[in-house]
Amino acid sequence: MYTFRILFFFTCVILTGIGAQAQTATQPPKEITDLLSKYTCLACHKTDAKVIGPAYMEVAKKKYTNAKIVELIYKPVPANWPGYPPMAPMTQVPKEDALKIATWINSLNKPAATPAKKTPTKKG
Ligand code: HEC
Repeated sequence: MYTFRILFFFTCVILTGIGAQAQTATQPPKEITDLLSKYTCLACHKTDAKVIGPAYMEVAKKKYTNAKIVELIYKPVPANWPGYPPMAPMTQVPKEDALKIATWINSLNKPAATPAKKTPTKKG
């Protein structure tokens, strides 16, 4: 009977592992991935890592409005990102699609399912 307990234990470990992996995936929804690849954004941007341009998660932290992100896609402000090369204006993106991308970028800033620990920081 002891072997059964061991088997049960390992099954739990494996299942927990799979669950954790699914949670940490940061793939955009297919519609967004399609837009990002169609307009070549993916060549320079990833969701969670710096490529040539900043990670979209970093952009989300700037708390722009959706409209402001659309504006920045058409007319980038390189001064916002010291240390990065300037992004070329992406005026070929229709406003409707730019807005979808902007809305998705801002959705990245929502707290994760498991709330992050908030340590109160005192400044000044
Ligand atoms: C050739 C590389 C390149 C491509 C292609 C590219 N970007 Fe960028 N992007 C950058 C770089 C570099 C920056 C940071 C410097 C800057 O803002 O000019 C940036 C910045 C941004 C920012 C932040 C703007 C700010 O001022 O905070 C957004 C939003 C953004 N890109 C969205 C997009 C979207 C959406 C696309 C596709 C339509 C795209 N980028 C295509 C390189 C690129």
